[in-house]
Amino acid sequence: MAECGVATRHHVSPTSVTIVKCAPPPTPTEAFSCHDIITYMKKILVTGGTGFIGSHTVVELLNAGYDVDIIDNLCNSKASVIDKILEITGKKPTFYQQDLLNQPALDQLFQTNEYYAVMHFAGLKSVSESQSKPYEYHHNNIVSTLNIIKCTLEYKVNRLIFSSSATVYGTQDSPECFESMTTGQGITNPYGRTKYFIEEILKDVSAGHPELSITLLRYFNPIGNHPSGLIGEDPNGIPNNIMPVIIRVAQGKIAKLKVFGNDYDTPDGTGQRDFIHVVDLAKGHIAALKHMQKGVNIYNLGTGTANSVLELIYSFERISGQKIPYEIVDRRPGDLGAVWANPAKANAELGWKTQLTIEDAITDTLQYLKLHQ
Ligand SMILES: NC(=O)c1ccc[n+]([C@@H]2O[C@H](COP(=O)([O-])OP(=O)(O)OC[C@H]3O[C@@H](n4cnc5c(N)ncnc54)[C@H](O)[C@@H]3O)[C@@H](O)[C@H]2O)c1
Repeated sequence: MAECGVATRHHVSPTSVTIVKCAPPPTPTEAFSCHDIITYMKKILVTGGTGFIGSHTVVELLNAGYDVDIIDNLCNSKASVIDKILEITGKKPTFYQQDLLNQPALDQLFQTNEYYAVMHFAGLKSVSESQSKPYEYHHNNIVSTLNIIKCTLEYKVNRLIFSSSATVYGTQDSPECFESMTTGQGITNPYGRTKYFIEEILKDVSAGHPELSITLLRYFNPIGNHPSGLIGEDPNGIPNNIMPVIIRVAQGKIAKLKVFGNDYDTPDGTGQRDFIHVVDLAKGHIAALKHMQKGVNIYNLGTGTANSVLELIYSFERISGQKIPYEIVDRRPGDLGAVWANPAKANAELGWKTQLTIEDAITDTLQYLKLHQ
């Protein structure tokens, strides 16, 4: 254990092991406690850390003084994100380009590193793609999670945070989702079912291993990006979420945005969703990490309000001054009219609340667009 004032950490690169002395915490003139230094040294393994939500969470982890290793196979992200994270935070996480399906490689990683916690973002996430590639989705998302669970048990990393989704709520009588609701009923696609199955697997694992602290974070609809515009949502291939499609329409790469259905029971007929700024979402992970408790703890990460797809488009047009051509097409099978989070549990227990608005998300998206034409 390092003494107060002199923090040491083990820096492990994929090929070498060196021990380096950390610089003291950022404000050396301020008094700091041993507790701060211990936080400073905690190393978090972030799976899927070059992806959209993972990379924003890595930024918040580094800013909060944690040490970060990322593992990602880059199937839906780019290695250049690591340099952008360095540019934003002044710190470079260690990056392992590796597939979570490769259990021996994972074993090696856990053997050579002492992790305080694992944040498990990695997974395939396109609802539509999951319908044409159900095997790939179940195999990738479930086996990679089982591999992570195996390592956390074997190497006694007792804290795991899992990226779940509002999709686990399936079909409910009410559009407002509470953690206490029954899940798994009426989920209409393989992607959503992988999230539900993984939640159930983690509950079983927790029952057999009471030493574990497992947090399931159910995300609603993340949009926006870091205000620097350096990182954002940049999926490989055809985007599935609405904001990357708006970005591509604004860039002239896609002619029109498709709005799926305008005959829902909502004020303007288009679907209503709980759009949460990804920076707020990332900060929710830091709050969750600081409040981990034994057993399985579940939190909705959302704003508690809903906006329609047309409202999002019109806000984008108003703030950017740019027209976003769109066409109304048929509803997508399985899409719900309105869904939003009740975030009261996360607000009360994690002391976390969203701070940013849709307008902030759009302003930050425009900054991203400026740097990525
Ligand atoms: N973005 C959303 O709207 C949303 C909503 C709810 C839940 N989630 C969940 O949050 C997590 C992160 O989502 P995101 O939007 O950042 O997605 P993303 O695709 O941007 O990031 C996921 C990352 O995981 C990596 N990956 C996938 N399979 C892998 C494997 N076998 N081995 C190593 N790396 C692998 C990808 O390369 C990618 O970088 C996912 O689990 C997703 O299902 C996302």
